[in-house]
Amino acid sequence: MSLPREALNAWFLGPRAENAELFERLVTEALRDHVFWRRNHHPEDGFTIREQDKRAEGYESAVATLTQELLGLLAELKRGVPFFSGRYKGHMCAEQTIASQIGYFAATLYNPNNVAIEASPVTTRLELEVAAQLARMIGYDPERSWGHIASGGTVANFEALWIARNVIYLPIAAVGAAEQLGVSLDVALPDGSRSPLGRLGLWELLNITNDAALDLWDALWRAAPSADVRRALADHSLGTLGYQEYARRLARRYGDPLPPGTVLVAATAHYSWEKIVRALGIGANQLIFIPVDEHYRMDPDALWDTVRRLTDRGVPILACVSVCGTTEESAVDRLDLVLEVRARAERELGVTFHLHSDAAYGGYAAAATWRADGTRRTAAEIRESTGTGWPTEDWVRSMEALAATDSVTIDPHKLGYVPYPAGAFLMRDRRARDLVAIDPPYLLPTRGMGSAEDLFLGRHIFEGSKPGAAAAAVWLSHKVLPLDERGYGFLVERTVRGARALHAALREAVLEPFRIVLLPEPDINIVGYVLTHPSLDTLESLNAFNEGIYERMSHGRPGEAPEYIITRTRFQSPMYDGAVDPLLEELGVCSREEWKASGGEGLVVLRSTVMDPFLVAPPPAPDHISGFIEALRRAAEDALASLDRTLAARGQTVGHG
Ligand SMILES: Cc1ncc(COP(=O)(O)O)c(C=O)c1O
Repeated sequence: MSLPREALNAWFLGPRAENAELFERLVTEALRDHVFWRRNHHPEDGFTIREQDKRAEGYESAVATLTQELLGLLAELKRGVPFFSGRYKGHMCAEQTIASQIGYFAATLYNPNNVAIEASPVTTRLELEVAAQLARMIGYDPERSWGHIASGGTVANFEALWIARNVIYLPIAAVGAAEQLGVSLDVALPDGSRSPLGRLGLWELLNITNDAALDLWDALWRAAPSADVRRALADHSLGTLGYQEYARRLARRYGDPLPPGTVLVAATAHYSWEKIVRALGIGANQLIFIPVDEHYRMDPDALWDTVRRLTDRGVPILACVSVCGTTEESAVDRLDLVLEVRARAERELGVTFHLHSDAAYGGYAAAATWRADGTRRTAAEIRESTGTGWPTEDWVRSMEALAATDSVTIDPHKLGYVPYPAGAFLMRDRRARDLVAIDPPYLLPTRGMGSAEDLFLGRHIFEGSKPGAAAAAVWLSHKVLPLDERGYGFLVERTVRGARALHAALREAVLEPFRIVLLPEPDINIVGYVLTHPSLDTLESLNAFNEGIYERMSHGRPGEAPEYIITRTRFQSPMYDGAVDPLLEELGVCSREEWKASGGEGLVVLRSTVMDPFLVAPPPAPDHISGFIEALRRAAEDALASLDRTLAARGQTVGHG
């Protein structure tokens, strides 16, 4: 295999479509091959559309319409966002690998539907292979784990909590089911002891570990005929009864209504979590944000305090969501320490919860921790390869800790550089998927097609019809860029090097009279910063100024193509309480209390996600770091002048005291 350094030039179409010929050859190959397939499929059928038919007027005018409308679409599409360019330093949107684009194109000619094997005999298998590859990368045992491709991180996160909720509530359903079936079962408790199921109170039943709950599931199915177990479980499970009836029954049986179960998330968690708790009926009030530290990582001490406080009040914890690669900063939580908190809660408090890592963004960075021979690289080895201080030993430990989570979201359509839609959901113990399984009669695989569980994906997942082309895209990309130091590991390292180079250049940049205040060096590749000017001395004027810079450097202003594209966010209280102090101190425009009291105003922070693997490429590659800094200066000058004009029109001065 060629060295990744050389291979990188062949992985992408290129910022100037330098690999256009290669791309065209591969597209043609895929198309021709598909044409042969059609031609050889029952050739005795003859031709439906004959050459003579193509001479007809109606045909020609239909072709003219098609061609003209396509030209119109192509013209429109050029108003899209140039993710391929080093000038794009905005969201986590990226160029795609040639492999994924060709894989997608080739497969979409066949239009496979990965809901079931009968609609996707090839791509369902590819999807399961991809899931096993991702599982291996995060350290799961591919034999025990299971996963699939989803439309994105939101749906993968949804499934995580959907399944977690079913596992957490299973022991309660099992009590009723076991009584109905007349069987007695026992279950392991978090402290390692065992107890007869029927003797446990509500609190204990809600604090059974993931593994013990799934063992209980197995024991129940072994204890009676399947049809009886299915009926008994349905009679007592939340999924069948719904929250209202479920709570009523619990109140009747246990003398106390079920306290609302909570979900703990890092304060930096993606907004999908709020959607999910609302959609699942858990309720947004039950979403508890755990403060982050000055590196935007979940604070394990704060997590412990929250777990203890909730336990004191008898509030169940359904799940804890740690983030690997936050949306705004690419921060990687100290997952090893989060796991320690859970182990301590189990030991000292008899409390447990489902642990999910939302690695939608950062999961692919785990590729950097693997050698080609399947052994782990040390932090020092990776540092040698990046030539930077990245990663730390702690970062590597956090990545290795993914192996001990109960589930993980990891999105190929983010750091995997493949086309949308391709998220992925992985669970450590494949038995959990059975808790949400539904079997429609028209989609059950027939004998000889393989096991029903594996080949009818729709049985275990939230979505129904889904593109097999997405699976083919990820599969081919993984073939060309393996999930280790030779492929994705190298790619991620390159973007980290780019982000670090940008961070260092911004730190050194002389932008006087402007000053740049940087967030710490990122855990992966998102660089955050705030620009200021001596005349700005209120939070509002500082925010208006940075918002002005963003407007000048964002895509979508009619008729304008910005020199460089960035994005921005707002750090608000209480989410960023633990992180914002150093920024506010350096900016010196307001106190922490004023920032907290500002409500929705928050602090505007500019962001640049470095997805560009060529940012640190030597000439003749363009210097998109110096170019960016100059563009930032021009945008700042322009934004300040405009702010001055606006305020002057209102008879005010720019926060000049
Ligand atoms: C950490 C994290 N989780 C989940 C998501 C949601 O992913 P998607 O947009 O693919 O649904 C994102 C998207 O940015 C994310 O950054």
